[in-house]
Amino acid sequence: MAEKKLWGGRFKESTNKLVEEFTESVSYDKRLAPYDVAGSVAHVKMLEKQGILTKEESDKIIEGLNRILREVEEGRFNWKKELEDVHMNIESRLTQEIGEVGGKLHTGRSRNDQVATDLRLYVRKEVKELLELLKGLRRAFLKQAQENLGVIMPGYTHLQIAQPVLYSHHMLAYYQMFKRDAERFEESLKRINVSPLGSAALAGTSYPLDREFTAKLLGFSSVSRNSMDAVSDRDFVAETIFNCAMVMMHLSRLSEELILWSTNEFDFIELPDAFCTGSSIMPQKKNPDVSELTRGKTGRVYGDLIAILTTLKGLPLTYNRDLQEDKEPLFDAIDTTKAALKVNTLIVEGMKPKRERMREQAGKGFSLATDLADYLAKKGLPFRKAHEVVGKLVAYCLDKGKDLTELSLKEFKEFSPLFEEDVLSLMSLEGSVNSRDVIGGTSLRRVKEEIERIKREEGFSGGQDDKV
Ligand code: ARG
Repeated sequence: MAEKKLWGGRFKESTNKLVEEFTESVSYDKRLAPYDVAGSVAHVKMLEKQGILTKEESDKIIEGLNRILREVEEGRFNWKKELEDVHMNIESRLTQEIGEVGGKLHTGRSRNDQVATDLRLYVRKEVKELLELLKGLRRAFLKQAQENLGVIMPGYTHLQIAQPVLYSHHMLAYYQMFKRDAERFEESLKRINVSPLGSAALAGTSYPLDREFTAKLLGFSSVSRNSMDAVSDRDFVAETIFNCAMVMMHLSRLSEELILWSTNEFDFIELPDAFCTGSSIMPQKKNPDVSELTRGKTGRVYGDLIAILTTLKGLPLTYNRDLQEDKEPLFDAIDTTKAALKVNTLIVEGMKPKRERMREQAGKGFSLATDLADYLAKKGLPFRKAHEVVGKLVAYCLDKGKDLTELSLKEFKEFSPLFEEDVLSLMSLEGSVNSRDVIGGTSLRRVKEEIERIKREEGFSGGQDDKV
């Protein structure tokens, strides 16, 4: 006779040790304990309201559960692998604490709707934290943009110098990415925040449960409409990991740029010392390890996404034990993304653009060539033709070892009679940047406008936020 197991009734032999090791999840799902207790407390309150438990019974169970939660929080709880998971560890401890009546907790409930409930409560809480962290990161980008207004740097395509842009404009590009990431998390909440409790094992239950009541107690905004779907749906897990993967992808792009920018070759940025590490052999080194690790950890979160999608693929309805494999990738993706957001926010807050160096590079690579082509086109030359004329000018400069800014009016005129005196003043970085005065463009006016719009929209102004 299998002893101790909550489901041991029909078993004659006890579980093989290796099987216990193989099937346990308590080593990692114990982090769901606070949500498990919250779900149980709500369930018990409802059972009492429905006359399924007496007030005395429900008080006793709730008090016991709260005592257990304190044990967990204070690290006094003795987790047992042979009790499989967080749910059975807590339930078995409850019966130990309060006796037989503890066994009434599981009335009208299954671990299948229980674990789905716990997981949704957990994800909801974590998504809210992720949203806060994303907001902090966006604030850091806005601060960089605001504090360095007017700094000009090269803008790149194909990692070749393309056109001069404001450093602030570059910073606000990242603002936009993390804004969309936050929107995705925000929108996912309506699918996460649905109560599966009351779906029981798969088909619902014969007890007269008030599902709306437990949903309300737990702060869910709706109840699931199909018990079979509710116990087996992990879309919200996959969606959350995807949203984490997207954040990491964006962080990896930032990381790559910071790594490049802090090389001798670019030399665009000073990263805060506290976020770099040295070399054990080369005394001169200051390595951007945090950025490199962020880039590296992105791969691991993508792995989490592939893991959950693969686990879910082809699963028949309803609950299958495969679903226990949802937790590790989920926890890993969330932990990794949160850590990456925290540390990268501090980097963005602390990094210092090297203004002169950026400016110097902004004029290289004939970055004003498009401005010249536009100049000719505005004088009536078809743009394709203008493109060709300026192409020839660039070739001439390369030949003579000159820059476009060093050409005389006479030289310009040799390539087109349309060039006049005003072309010489056009050849400035400020002129080029400020001419891009469309919505979303890099002109100082538009970037300033954008900063103000963001501050209003985010509520980043007033009081302490004024410093943004
Ligand atoms: N530890 C399990 C999981 O995470 C809980 C649900 C177990 N349900 C079951 N019918 N064996 O999925």
